[in-house]
Amino acid sequence: MVRNNSFLKEIDFTKEELNDLIDLGLKFKELKKARIPHKYLEGLNIALIFEKASTRTRSAFTVAGQDLGMNVTYLGSGEIQLGKKESVIDTAKVLGSMFDGIEYRGFKQEDVEALAEYSGVPVWNGLTDTWHPTQMIADFMTLKEHFGKLEGLTIAYIGDGRNNMANSLLVTSAILGVNVKIIAPADLQPEAEIVAIAEQYNNGAELTITDDVAAVKGVDMLYTDVWVSMGEEVDFKERIDLLLPYQINADLLAKAENPNLVVMHCLPAFHDLNTEIGKEIYETYGLAELEITDEVFQEHSSTIFQEAENRMHSIKAIMYQSLKSL
Ligand code: CP
Ligand code: NVA
Repeated sequence: MVRNNSFLKEIDFTKEELNDLIDLGLKFKELKKARIPHKYLEGLNIALIFEKASTRTRSAFTVAGQDLGMNVTYLGSGEIQLGKKESVIDTAKVLGSMFDGIEYRGFKQEDVEALAEYSGVPVWNGLTDTWHPTQMIADFMTLKEHFGKLEGLTIAYIGDGRNNMANSLLVTSAILGVNVKIIAPADLQPEAEIVAIAEQYNNGAELTITDDVAAVKGVDMLYTDVWVSMGEEVDFKERIDLLLPYQINADLLAKAENPNLVVMHCLPAFHDLNTEIGKEIYETYGLAELEITDEVFQEHSSTIFQEAENRMHSIKAIMYQSLKSL
């Protein structure tokens, strides 16, 4: 059920509704490029709660909100009472009495659902441990820009197959009827509950879960994400050992045997030594690139950064759709 026009997880939306959001994102992109003002939500107030770090999602909500004419207030982790001195429910009631919409990035999916239930205003999920739904609209928008359509495409996600990105790509592809493969070692494949959801909401897509990297053969798009997600406490060495065979590199691209292959990444990515964590990993394990090599990242960077830009246009579409009737 969609509470208060919220955007909490993909299965709350039909194939048609998701496609409409993708198309609306494309329209907002045209307006922005043509510098046509679109302050359709002038005077509304929205709050952005981030319990985890963010560059793209925070920037996208901020710029999209301002472009729509709204006032945007950032409520960062440790700066509000939430979690430490005040419950999600009490916070929801307070913020819902002042703001017209709330973005929430956090840990548990139940928290963003509770925020929507008790605030009484639209809530947008800016990422939880389970789903990253706003990323989906940007990703499929980017695919549509590239291929001109979504029908008939086959995409593959390779790497940590049971994180929020893999869950969202599996389920969203199913809803949209796009063939999807999750390629991951047995220990990091999607949980049975997520696979069951994808099967339940499937609109004719072929769903494949495999540990065999040869499955990349013939795919139109290859996606990956970090090997350790925000908030996860795992042995990094164990993850590296499990996932190194699933790195996107020149050998893997050769296995895809598709000269028109597109590579995507939600970002941030560990593809070089220009980050603190990247350097630490290099010093400890001698590995300079993790989920994607710098060579492949640079070769496909125009699509990857187009995808990042599309976060803003698609989030604008999502907020407009939620708030347009106010
Ligand atoms: N892709 C994404 O959500 O990026 P941020 O963590 O920077 O928001
Ligand atoms: N799986 C990653 C996605 C970041 C956009 C994380 O949760 O850290």
